[in-house]
Amino acid sequence: MRCLGIETSCDETALALVDNGRLLGEVIATQAEVHALFGGVVPEIASREHYRLLGPLYDELLAKTGVGPRDIDVVAVARGPGLLGCLLTGLGFAKGLALGLGARLVGVNHLHAHLLAPGLHGPIAFPALGLLVSGGHTHIYRIRSDTDFELLGRTLDDAAGEAYDKVAKMLNLPYPGGRFVDALGRRGTMVPDMFPRPYLENQNCDFSFSGLKTAVATHIAAREHLRFAALADPDAALAGQGVSQELADMCASFNHAVADTLRIKLQRAFDRVGPVASCIVAGGVAANSFVRGAMALLAAKNRVPLLLPPLELCTDNGAMIAYAGERLAAAGLFHGLELDAVPRGKPIPWDYEAGCRRLPGKGACVTA
Ligand code: KG4
Ligand code: ZN
Repeated sequence: MRCLGIETSCDETALALVDNGRLLGEVIATQAEVHALFGGVVPEIASREHYRLLGPLYDELLAKTGVGPRDIDVVAVARGPGLLGCLLTGLGFAKGLALGLGARLVGVNHLHAHLLAPGLHGPIAFPALGLLVSGGHTHIYRIRSDTDFELLGRTLDDAAGEAYDKVAKMLNLPYPGGRFVDALGRRGTMVPDMFPRPYLENQNCDFSFSGLKTAVATHIAAREHLRFAALADPDAALAGQGVSQELADMCASFNHAVADTLRIKLQRAFDRVGPVASCIVAGGVAANSFVRGAMALLAAKNRVPLLLPPLELCTDNGAMIAYAGERLAAAGLFHGLELDAVPRGKPIPWDYEAGCRRLPGKGACVTA
C-alpha cells in the first residue's frame, strides 16, 4: 500500500510517501525564518505559505521517488490538532488529490503520528507508554496498538516546548528557541534548586509548566545582563559566542528542571499502568539532549526498550503522517470528504468510516 502523508498543522509544510511501512521519500519546507521575525508563528502567514508550497512540494516528491500519481493508494493528512487555517490548507489539498487520483482519504491525529514515528525504523512493541512533548502538547498515553491511544495525563497550561520557546524569547534567542536553550545548557552546569520541578505535589500524571516559566522570568528580570542585547544570531548562539558561564548554568538548570519533571511524571504513569513492552518519547522536545538522557535512565530503570525517533523525526514531518495514515488504512479506517480539521484545544473525534468504499474512477472514499 502506497500512502502519501501531508503535514501542515503549524509552520512546516511536509509531504512523504510510505510503502508498507518503508519511507520512499519526503520533502519539507520550514517556515521558521519567515516567523522568526515575529517571535512566533503568525497563523495567517503560515496558511498562505502552506498554500503556496504544497503543489510544488508534491511535484518534487513524485519526481524524487519516481512514484506516479496513480500509484498512490491512500492520501493521509494531519487533521489536528493545529492552527485551523493551516490544517484547512492541507485538508483541501488532500481532498482534491484523493478525488483526482481515486485514492482513499484518511485524517490523522498529529499527536498520535508523532508517537508512531519510531515505527518507521522497526516494529513498535505494544502495549507501550508514550510521552509526547511538543510545542503545543505534553501528553502521556497508554498505547495498546497503532490505533488505540488512551490519554493518561496532559498539560494544564503551557506545553514543555512552549516553556522552552518562551524562555528563549526572554533571552532574545530566535524562535523556535528550544534547540538554543538546549545547546547553551550543554555548556553549563546545573545549579541545584535554581528552579522548581513544578506540579509534583499530587497523584496525577498531568503537567503544569507555567510556574517554572515564571520562575525563569523572575530570575532573568533580576539579571538583565543574561539577555542578549539584540536578537541573537542563530549560528553564533549555537557556537556559544556571547554566552557567559552564568547564562549557560541557568540554561542547564532549566533543562534539568524540565527533564526531571517529565521523568518523574512518566515514572508515575509506569507505576500506574503496570508492565509495558516499550516506552516511546516523541515530539519536538524529544530532540532535547537533557530529555533524551533522562528518558534513557527511566527506561533502563523500568527495563523497557526506549523508542526515541531520530532528531529529524522528532519535529513535524510528513513521514510520520504517511506512516500513521497507512496504519489506519491497514486497519480499514478511512474518512469521507466531510473530514474536518480540529484546532488545538478541541477533542479529536474518532469518526473513521470503517470499510467505506471508493467510487470506481471517481476518487475519494464515499460512505457505503
Ligand atoms: O513537535 P514540534 O516540531 O511541533 C509541534 O507539534 O509543536 O515541536 C516544536 C517544539 C518547539 O517548541 C521547539 O522549541 C521544541 O519543539 N524543540 C526543542 C528542541 N528542538 C525542538 N526543545 C528543546 N530542546 C530541543 N533540542
Ligand atoms: Zn508536532
